[in-house]
Amino acid sequence: MRDTLREALDRPGDVATKLARPVGGLELLFSSPTLTVLNVIWAPCMTIYPHDHRMWALIGIYGGGEDNTLFRRGPNGLTSSGGKALREGDVFSLGAEAIHSVENPLRRFTGAIHVYGGDFVNQARSQWDPDTFEEQPYDPEQVRSVFADANAAWAAAGSPDGSS
Ligand SMILES: [Fe+2]
Repeated sequence: MRDTLREALDRPGDVATKLARPVGGLELLFSSPTLTVLNVIWAPCMTIYPHDHRMWALIGIYGGGEDNTLFRRGPNGLTSSGGKALREGDVFSLGAEAIHSVENPLRRFTGAIHVYGGDFVNQARSQWDPDTFEEQPYDPEQVRSVFADANAAWAAAGSPDGSS
């Protein structure tokens, strides 16, 4: 799967032609009990708080960039365990135990293919409050509102670099 994604991203511009969108959000491209594929559009400068997946995951960037911060569970809650800045053409794997937060550091939309080794849509999992790091059940509605707020903030900023 990793090789397939890497091969697809040899020509990220071709992927962007099909999948790039002018609005941030999560688009379900494929869903089954064993595999899920999302087209993830990160709005400029948006951040999503720490969350887990409870299945392996692959991230492939076809435009822009996403900065991943990795976490692990510690005796006193969540602790940061490094990060990975991904840019166009990069493919990154996360294990089933991974916990990460994601930021689009760029003043442009980022497009990424995210592949998950399971039923990502229905999997019960966790998110962590960005301020207190308190563990909570994953809330898809809250995630949608983070995307909506980021889209609104970018629209209100008037897309200053004209890239929207
Ligand atoms: Fe994630």
